[in-house]
Amino acid sequence: MALFSSSTREVPVAAAVPRHVAIIMDGNGRWAKKRFLPRVAGHVKGVELVREAVRACLERKIDYLTLFAFSSENWRRPAEEVSLLMQLFVKALEQEVEKLNRNNVRLRIVGDLSRFEPRLQALIAEAEAKTATNTALVLTIAANYGGRWDIMQAMQRMLAAHPEKRDGFVESDLEAFLSMSYAPEPDLFIRTGGEERISNFLLWQLAYAELYFTPTLWPEFDTAEFDKAIASYQQRERRFGRTSEQLQDRKDHA
Ligand code: IPE
Ligand code: IPE
Ligand code: MG
Repeated sequence: MALFSSSTREVPVAAAVPRHVAIIMDGNGRWAKKRFLPRVAGHVKGVELVREAVRACLERKIDYLTLFAFSSENWRRPAEEVSLLMQLFVKALEQEVEKLNRNNVRLRIVGDLSRFEPRLQALIAEAEAKTATNTALVLTIAANYGGRWDIMQAMQRMLAAHPEKRDGFVESDLEAFLSMSYAPEPDLFIRTGGEERISNFLLWQLAYAELYFTPTLWPEFDTAEFDKAIASYQQRERRFGRTSEQLQDRKDHA
């Protein structure tokens, strides 16, 4: 498995198009409420926008798209909404995987999957296996995911892998066990729906991501909105601790 070095230690090539975009898809409930619809109608519409985002990434040659679909805290919602979200997840897996496969998209699900029903777990395993050799885009869905859970499970697996070691661990030792060790860190983080918080998403991996918050609700986050986020990203100067002048020197000597 290819491991990517942390952007906090090495300056990655700042490409015009972000290599990895991570999104908190928020605002489905409010979108439905505005229309006097049940919250689940917002989630159903949200799935359509996932399709559109995947298409946009394929067209723009973005390598990794990571979507927060269900957080470890979302179990606190009313049982009916949780159950409808699970049904929607099952339905999406049943209906979309073939199309993803045809488009050369690799699907990965990260999170604590043990809490899902066996049928859902089986569908996830099947979808990942079916798309395992695809190379156009890696689409990661974070489901029952929490950034703190990820760091804890990585730490436990790291310690189990080195039973005699007491200290001297370095960041890359832990990174190898994080659930997204197969991907470079996100370049661009987007949160729709107006809230400006991380909500326990990729805590470790977002250390140096460019953050983009928009009031646009997820069911209205179309390709034009996506392009606005990318345009904002392209305006940023990613310094990773260095000075602006240092970056200019590097460019001059490149
Ligand atoms: C995001 O939309 C989807 C999930 C968390 C599953 P919300 O359901 O949080 O929508 P709002 O924030 O209530 O509008
Ligand atoms: C974050 O959205 C999680 C997902 C989009 C899946 P929430 O709407 O649950 O976030 P908080 O709890 O309001 O911060
Ligand atoms: Mg929300």
